[in-house]
Amino acid sequence: MRNKNDELSSRKRRRKNKWINGGILLLFIVLISSVIWIGTNGWNMEKAVESIQNESESTTDFQEIDEPADSNSTDMTGRSEENTSSSDVPSEELLRETEQLIIEEDSKEEKVREEESEGEAVPPSNPTGYIKGQKLPKEPKLIKGVLLANKQYPLPEDYAPGESEEAREAFDELAASAVTSGINLQAFSTYRSYDYQVTLYNRYVERDGQEAADRYSARPGYSEHQTGLAFDIGEVNHEKHWASNSFGDTEAAKWLAANAHQYGFILRYPEGKEDKTGYMHESWHYRYVGKNKAEQIFKRNITLEEYLGVR
Ligand code: DAL
Ligand code: ZN
Repeated sequence: MRNKNDELSSRKRRRKNKWINGGILLLFIVLISSVIWIGTNGWNMEKAVESIQNESESTTDFQEIDEPADSNSTDMTGRSEENTSSSDVPSEELLRETEQLIIEEDSKEEKVREEESEGEAVPPSNPTGYIKGQKLPKEPKLIKGVLLANKQYPLPEDYAPGESEEAREAFDELAASAVTSGINLQAFSTYRSYDYQVTLYNRYVERDGQEAADRYSARPGYSEHQTGLAFDIGEVNHEKHWASNSFGDTEAAKWLAANAHQYGFILRYPEGKEDKTGYMHESWHYRYVGKNKAEQIFKRNITLEEYLGVR
């Protein structure tokens, strides 16, 4: 009996000792961890306590992750966040505002690029087709080997090549061919200087007003006639149809429209293409681009702007 009692009390003692040992081990682990934690925080007790607090906050309240640490800091839009804490501005609204600001900045940049472009192909910024505030360039614009002169691509004021010899020879061939069909062609206006275009354009503006004149007459520096490659064609002794819509109904105009491309000329301002060329239809205005290009443009029934991929 006594032995049994002794055995029971020694079992209780062992269990008690186990708990004491366990407690001491736990205390030891906590102590070691604390020493390591304080050590990693540069032996700064305050910093160690703060980092424990931050750690527990970040794992318990994920909604506050985007909260600025400093209430006077600025966000990516450059605004002060003093009055825009996440508690009074929903984050979605903040995002929308940010997006809007970025879009506004982008469009501002685009506007500046447009103003700085000086002859770059950008959509017309006003209904006339001209780029507002554009200055005449120092060099003429060549695209795919084609000298371009239109409302977006002007010429230098001093660009004065005179009538193109190559274009004149091609016209003579064309005219010789037309004669065999009983048509006597004449080029009544070819190369025009910058100064002459000033006189012409001003005269038209005075007569019809600027809005109307801009649809059929180029402003100085913008006329294809200044390239020496544009030929206004009519019939000898039929001056009444020269530079007139009535020319379009004549046999001569029809012959030209069907054959000019074989000699390197294209009808420059076709019917219904004012949005592409910038000018209303002119049945008499032909442009020399060379046989190969003229054939392609004719077969595809496109304008020079479409062929060159501008506008
Ligand atoms: N008539 C054409 C558009 C010009 O003036 O050049
Ligand atoms: Zn013309």
